[in-house]
Amino acid sequence: MKIMITGGAGFIGSHIADLLVSEGHDVAVIDSLVHGKLENLSDNVKFYEYDIRDKGIRAAFEEFRPEVLIHEAAQIKVPNSIKDPLYDAEVNILGTLNLLECCREFSVRKVIYPATAAMFSDPQYLPIDEKHPLSMMSGYGVSKHTVEHYLEVYSKLYNLSYTVLRYSNVYGPRQDSTGEGGVVAIFCEKMTEGIVPEIYGDGNQTRDFIYVKDVAKANALALDSLDNEIFNCCTGTEISVIELYDEIARDLGFDKLPIMREPREGDIYRTYMTYKKLNDAIGWAPSWNISGGIRETLDYYMNRKNN
Ligand SMILES: NC(=O)c1ccc[n+]([C@@H]2O[C@H](COP(=O)([O-])OP(=O)(O)OC[C@H]3O[C@@H](n4cnc5c(N)ncnc54)[C@H](O)[C@@H]3O)[C@@H](O)[C@H]2O)c1
Repeated sequence: MKIMITGGAGFIGSHIADLLVSEGHDVAVIDSLVHGKLENLSDNVKFYEYDIRDKGIRAAFEEFRPEVLIHEAAQIKVPNSIKDPLYDAEVNILGTLNLLECCREFSVRKVIYPATAAMFSDPQYLPIDEKHPLSMMSGYGVSKHTVEHYLEVYSKLYNLSYTVLRYSNVYGPRQDSTGEGGVVAIFCEKMTEGIVPEIYGDGNQTRDFIYVKDVAKANALALDSLDNEIFNCCTGTEISVIELYDEIARDLGFDKLPIMREPREGDIYRTYMTYKKLNDAIGWAPSWNISGGIRETLDYYMNRKNN
């Protein structure tokens, strides 16, 4: 199948590209490299260097003629979306609309799109399911959710199918330590360099950490299924920040205690999501546990440090 991935030089997009290439698909990537890196780009992908806000992306669609668009490119930093909501909306909303218009013009069959746990800033119950009420505390939460509405509208108006996968906190090799859910990347990077990480709050705050290869697999399965619905893509388990710290420290033999700091304003204390709907639909479940995922992630940071 011909698949176009935006943000394919970034963290999650590059893992999706790797998997789809290994499954024999014909893959192209659009990325502005504002955050992504050429070295992340999988071999055997066709690369188009464009900003998704640029009308020029039409040329990439015209040449490559994708059947499916996997749209990972985004402004992903929550604090930046509060500092500069216009930029966040330009990339995440208008950039997406620019892509959707290309999908319409070039008869793309389907769009697969990642939404985020940042749309649930005040969990009413746990685990969060797809019916949980939304409550946003950032432009990022709003912009990512707005696209869910546009996808529904394009499917009704133009028969463009979609799947929304609402990721929890994704981690793994190639993650930038400044991105959303970057605590695993920060801990791994610091500890492999012998630096003691900081923890904000008492360390008992929890998140749902999903390994990036499980996320890539869910995207691959959505190519031919899960049409016109929203699914959580998560582990259904919560891990506290201190447990995460201990897991990474144990694996590395790092014996220093974290530096404890005052809690950050607005940080959610506990959150995790359920993947029951995705499991009921296609039998997807995460196949990586935290130890296995951390092991592979640490290998990446160790290699990066030694090269
Ligand atoms: N990392 C997480 O935990 C997480 C959780 C939920 C949802 N998501 C979503 O998953 C997607 C991928 O996130 P990631 O963590 O891999 O981030 P990332 O920053 O590693 O990847 C994003 C890619 O998009 C590219 N990009 C950004 N703006 C662009 C633009 N205007 N034009 C073209 N390319 C542009 C960047 O260069 C980068 O390569 C995003 O849509 C994000 O909202 C991520």
